[in-house]
Amino acid sequence: MGAGDTVLVQGTGGVALFALQFACAAGARVIALTSSDTKAALLKKLGADAVINYRQQPEWAPAVRELTGGRGVDIVVETTGATLSQSLAAVGFGGFVGVVGFVGGLETRLNVRQLIGPMVRMQGIVVGSRTGLEALGRTMSLHRIRPVIDSTFPLERCAEAFRHLERGAHVGKIVISL
Ligand SMILES: NC(=O)c1ccc[n+]([C@@H]2O[C@H](COP(=O)([O-])OP(=O)(O)OC[C@H]3O[C@@H](n4cnc5c(N)ncnc54)[C@H](OP(=O)(O)O)[C@@H]3O)[C@@H](O)[C@H]2O)c1
Repeated sequence: MGAGDTVLVQGTGGVALFALQFACAAGARVIALTSSDTKAALLKKLGADAVINYRQQPEWAPAVRELTGGRGVDIVVETTGATLSQSLAAVGFGGFVGVVGFVGGLETRLNVRQLIGPMVRMQGIVVGSRTGLEALGRTMSLHRIRPVIDSTFPLERCAEAFRHLERGAHVGKIVISL
């Protein structure tokens, strides 16, 4: 990812917000999806250039394209899984879709042409290298990036923490303290 790239992030979970923060630090432009106006305001405060409400606009790929002048985004951080087909419709020629999560489900239908014609690269991501983690730490220090922490629960209340996660009202990370 580089300065001037456009990155699409999905939702306001821990992964999406970190992706947004790192993209902004790299000088990229961020388009974000969320389900609520309150969360949209927070995304803008964190640096999102544009926010689309995926509840009001479930077919959001054309809106993403429009926001990039028809070109499509350079990078999608796919945390939804089920929306992969829309992500492929929103990514530009030679773009990259990093498949990290599946909050919307593990299975989805894809049209293979969406990958071939625009020469899109798609990669599943689980972990990175130690070198990558060290670079990430340096980036966080340099840009004073702080994780967005929604709430903290002691270990004995971890069931409550998971119920809170399940309700989906959180923004960013839910911490269990040991
Ligand atoms: N590959 C890995 O190494 C790795 C590491 C960590 C997590 N993950 C996976 O990545 C995914 C995200 O993790 P997380 O910790 O960030 O989860 P999370 O905190 O539960 O956040 C999920 C967010 O996704 C958004 N969302 C739900 N349905 C959506 C939809 N249809 N379209 C767009 N956004 C939608 C919601 O945002 P709004 O509330 O704003 O609508 C929700 O807050 C999970 O599937 C997790 O298992 C993978």
